[in-house]
Amino acid sequence: MKSWTFISQKYYWGVIELYRIGQEEIEAIARVINGKKLFRVGAPYQEVDKFEREWAQHLGVEYTLCVNGGTTALIAGLAGMGIGPGDEVIIPSYTFMATAIAVLAVGAIPVLAEIDETMTIDPEDLKRKLTPETKAVIPVHMCGFPANMDAIMELSKKHGFKVLEDACQADGGSFRGKHLGTWGHAGAFSFNDFKIITAGEGGALVTNDYNLYERALIYHDGGAAFRPFAGELKTPVFTGSQFRANEIMGAILRVQLRRLPGILEDLRAVKREFVAHFRERMIPSNDLEGDCGTTVGFSFATEEEARSFATSPGVEGWLPIDSDKHVFINWDPILQKRGAHHEALNPYRFPENQGLRMDYSKDMCPRTLEILRRTVYINLNPDWTEEELKMRIDSCQQALNS
Ligand SMILES: Cc1ncc(COP(=O)(O)O)c(C=O)c1O
Repeated sequence: MKSWTFISQKYYWGVIELYRIGQEEIEAIARVINGKKLFRVGAPYQEVDKFEREWAQHLGVEYTLCVNGGTTALIAGLAGMGIGPGDEVIIPSYTFMATAIAVLAVGAIPVLAEIDETMTIDPEDLKRKLTPETKAVIPVHMCGFPANMDAIMELSKKHGFKVLEDACQADGGSFRGKHLGTWGHAGAFSFNDFKIITAGEGGALVTNDYNLYERALIYHDGGAAFRPFAGELKTPVFTGSQFRANEIMGAILRVQLRRLPGILEDLRAVKREFVAHFRERMIPSNDLEGDCGTTVGFSFATEEEARSFATSPGVEGWLPIDSDKHVFINWDPILQKRGAHHEALNPYRFPENQGLRMDYSKDMCPRTLEILRRTVYINLNPDWTEEELKMRIDSCQQALNS
């Protein structure tokens, strides 16, 4: 029998669910259900409101807007920045395709840049790809590996583009002691099934810029014109969409946030063991301390060596080149410029976008492909026992020695 669940197993291999979830979440959900208020609208100072305050406090930012996903957090962020037709947004060629989809959703054109060996956007290639049409850049902290935010923010100051961090795979990570998602003008987080904390789905946009926040707030709620806050808005309400979170999501996320430091501590402890044993084989990091620790990356000279290591007994590694949705050569809707459900809404056809760079090809980011082909990932688990961890380390050691 064909079913989405059946098909999904092919697509989601290589990714583990890090879930720590249990009685506290059950009690939080029960509280919402017993209170008979599941809609965040009309529930001031309740679960979603409280989560927004707690997430902002955790990250040390002024504003958090809780939404229903990471993609919608990215879209709300770009809408908040005023990005639209006529604008190019540079993204890495190694990310989930949702990063590119978010750019198209606001009518702009995604331009792809190479990654470097840290698996995040290469600041040198970013510099080469900047044009006067570059209005925003989305660095992605893939697998919780921090992008080089110093270099990116320096370029942003010099050239005047906005930075929206895609921290969807990096809940709680940091770069040089400052949380990922708070370096740029805004940051987007995901709480979907594969993330460090989860409510099954969910997301958050964070920023210190009130104007950006207010525009994102309007965009995320089709009913914004009718909400109690409407009278206080400085921006005249425009039509938006429906990205609202609900109270059950908010209640779960509040518990998950309390679990986050413990999950990160345990993931990082596991990663430190790998680093202690295999430092010279690891991919470089922009900040190992701030890395979330969900994944350990090994670097090899060739794809053949990488595949041999990945498939050695007990290693359970995989090559990022095989993770279809994250590698630009597999983004057929983008490569073939099907940027909307209706041709008249397809940003690739907009008159404002003609002349922007949309000449995509499968060989446009060769360095990214070369790096992805000779890297091996091992997914880490915060709940491995000492014995399980030792078994993995021993298996890697044996594979490297053979
Ligand atoms: C890098 C990246 N960006 C964006 C997203 C989109 O998040 P969501 O699935 O919550 O919309 C994901 C989700 O997997 C992601 O990994």
